[in-house]
Amino acid sequence: MAIRTIREMGDDVLTKVCKEVPKMTLRTRILIEDMLDTMYQADGVGLAAPQVGILKRIVVIDVGEGPIVMINPEILETSGEQTGEEGCLSVPGKAGVVTRPNYVKARALNENMEEYIIEGEELLARAICHELDHLDGHLYVEKVEGELHDTNYEEE
Ligand code: NI
Repeated sequence: MAIRTIREMGDDVLTKVCKEVPKMTLRTRILIEDMLDTMYQADGVGLAAPQVGILKRIVVIDVGEGPIVMINPEILETSGEQTGEEGCLSVPGKAGVVTRPNYVKARALNENMEEYIIEGEELLARAICHELDHLDGHLYVEKVEGELHDTNYEEE
């Protein structure tokens, strides 16, 4: 178990397009474990590999229903709309309003490189869209409606 340094907005690595994962290796297994540890330690609901400086198409998510590992993920279908507050571990102390689909269906590989389909609504749909954007070098701040604002609890 290891906590990795979370890269913050302004770091070039967050603007790059990540590479597909061709096969599972010990190094990648350790990366995934570390990403989960890092996400939980930071109290996040999702983390993408570029946020720890690795340009691989891997994200981890936990919206309170257990860990989800998505390798080479791809969105298959979206529907509806939700508008709400969003934040990112790479943009600490800030939040902003973003509109996302309310439903997402995606395909990904798990840590054993087995394909699965995941469907999510509300927070899970938002998290999938947010994390997958990271793999193409995009941050939610590009989509914020109005202005980014400070989150109160960070002020203490
Ligand atoms: Ni993020």
